[in-house]
Amino acid sequence: MLTIGNIKFSDFPVIMAPMEDVTDAAFRGLCKRCGADLVFTEFIASEGLIRDVQKSVKKLMINDEERPVGIQIFGNNEYALCKAAEAAAEANPDCIDLNWGCPVKKVVKKMCGSGMLQDPAQLVALTKAVVKHVSIPVTVKTRLGWDETNKPIVSLAEQLQDVGIAALTIHGRTRSQLYSGEADWTLIGKIKENPRIFIPIFGNGDIVDAPTALEKRNRYGVDGIMIGRAAMGNPFIFREIKSFFATGIISPPPTLSERIAVCREHLLWKIKIKDEKCALLEMRSQYAPYFKGIPNFKPFRVKLVQAETVENVLAVLEEIEQGFIEKI
Ligand SMILES: Cc1cc2nc3c(=O)[nH]c(=O)nc-3n(C[C@H](O)[C@H](O)[C@H](O)COP(=O)(O)O)c2cc1C
Repeated sequence: MLTIGNIKFSDFPVIMAPMEDVTDAAFRGLCKRCGADLVFTEFIASEGLIRDVQKSVKKLMINDEERPVGIQIFGNNEYALCKAAEAAAEANPDCIDLNWGCPVKKVVKKMCGSGMLQDPAQLVALTKAVVKHVSIPVTVKTRLGWDETNKPIVSLAEQLQDVGIAALTIHGRTRSQLYSGEADWTLIGKIKENPRIFIPIFGNGDIVDAPTALEKRNRYGVDGIMIGRAAMGNPFIFREIKSFFATGIISPPPTLSERIAVCREHLLWKIKIKDEKCALLEMRSQYAPYFKGIPNFKPFRVKLVQAETVENVLAVLEEIEQGFIEKI
């Protein structure tokens, strides 16, 4: 049976990717309900955690219903990373994930996230320090390498395993690709062919639906898959993938009334844990995917995105319900 510390996966795990401004407790709860086998917090700055910056500390909030859950931290400094891992461990997650994959310029230029892929030896040394410092499992999420000429992931995977990480997730792009081009899973498959590797290897990048999930699973022999963008405004993807794996049948898309209900719940959940302005802003990127494929939806999407209060959003959702469902 596949395990990460005390986490036991009875099946092939389908994991929710950490995403800044997206994977808060509300979204994690919804994904969990739709069948995600493991969820992660948004990334949390180690320096913010040790300086008690409220934005960072708040991100530590996890609920038992979303377990198993990992808290993801990032940084570039041994002391800060270890102290942040300690603070994260106190929040009692099932694992702590180190982010060595974020490609954002302001993160990379401080040698955080994928910036550290320019110095793999230091990346391994920092990971080792964190693994030694906390008693809960530490996992890593990273990319193939820095750029086309520097893709150390195959040997890096061995080195990270040797310093004691409990699982490794790889996004099949380099830092310099950002999100462009196609994710290349070839090297991820190569890691799985290495007989020395025994930790779970999770693949990530460009899984958009159940058939692409199955294709990656079968072709690259990974131990699990992680879904990011395709889950935004679409937590249903987890149950669709799991059902497809089990039956080979593509399930029908969620009904419009389910989409409205989940979208409404998402918003209301968010405002319980964040201030209203922030919740409204973060929801804006979710509306288009929640209602993808609904014909003539654009005017409603515009209204949702422009709504400035929760009451306004709820009224638009109500209008959608009246306008569409009653006609169907
Ligand atoms: C809006 C957004 C925020 C993200 N934030 C994080 C993050 O906080 N930590 C992280 O490891 N990756 C982050 N990522 C990367 C995703 O976890 C994932 O690796 C990437 O989107 C590729 O997977 P996908 O093709 O399934 O989306 C983010 C991606 C997006 C689109």
